[in-house]
Amino acid sequence: MNELEKVAITTSQSRDHLIDIARDISQEINIKYIPRQNQTLKRIKSQYDLTHLLVVREDKIQVDDEFFFHPGMAVPRIKMLKKGLEDPMIRAMNLGPGDKVLDCTLGLANDAIVASFVVGEKGEVVGLESSPIIYEITKWGLKYYREGSKDCRNAMENIKVVFTNYEIYLNELWDNSFDLVYFDPMFDIPYHKSSGIKGLRKYANYQKLGKHVLSEALRVARKRVVIKDRRDSTRLQELGINHIEGGKYSPIIYGIFSK
Ligand SMILES: C[S@@+](CC[C@H](N)C(=O)[O-])C[C@H]1O[C@@H](n2cnc3c(N)ncnc32)[C@H](O)[C@@H]1O
Repeated sequence: MNELEKVAITTSQSRDHLIDIARDISQEINIKYIPRQNQTLKRIKSQYDLTHLLVVREDKIQVDDEFFFHPGMAVPRIKMLKKGLEDPMIRAMNLGPGDKVLDCTLGLANDAIVASFVVGEKGEVVGLESSPIIYEITKWGLKYYREGSKDCRNAMENIKVVFTNYEIYLNELWDNSFDLVYFDPMFDIPYHKSSGIKGLRKYANYQKLGKHVLSEALRVARKRVVIKDRRDSTRLQELGINHIEGGKYSPIIYGIFSK
């Protein structure tokens, strides 16, 4: 069965602009649009036998009343950078203003927002997401999320979101088309302190990053490829990466392939 066969979309209220967005999304990822007509979400879910119901609200898109966009740690990380403090991911990326970044595993775009803040208006961040639900949540979240600092909102606006699998997208790119290619694949064992990722786990793609993808990423990257991982994982070793950075006591590390 198609994974989206039991997923549908409705609106929080029967307002035209919300209905337009819901219809657009239903066409884009090929899910059923169900007019709200004052029914409870619970009732719609049981009537149509749905596993997940997306709801278009004024300020966000939500799944099953539990999963929605939030910039999460991007907010304090940008604050720290503004104070002149170091961010381990940015350090591993060796990123600066004007750089072009390809984030192959966008998720809720927390890392992409921080990268976008650093590269600034002259730079570029493209984020790829293969899970249709996460793609829509993040695409609309980046567009409509209004809280947070101006720096954070500007950074969010400058991210281009693409619904695709990184294998397909990388294959179609020219050599050296981005300065930096980044991967933050789902960890095999979840890192429990990362509450931001919790909601996303149910809908994510758990594809393993193979050597063939890494060699494509190296072809596409002008400067380096960076892969985030758990310190206790063997994945980076298996991929042949031995340049590793990350805080001495941090459970998170970054594997780096420089060119
Ligand atoms: C750990 S999350 C990324 C979190 C992200 N760095 C952030 O800061 O919010 C990994 C994401 O990559 C997506 N993903 C996994 N494999 C993918 C693939 N082959 N192509 C595109 N996206 C993929 C998952 O669906 C998930 O949303």
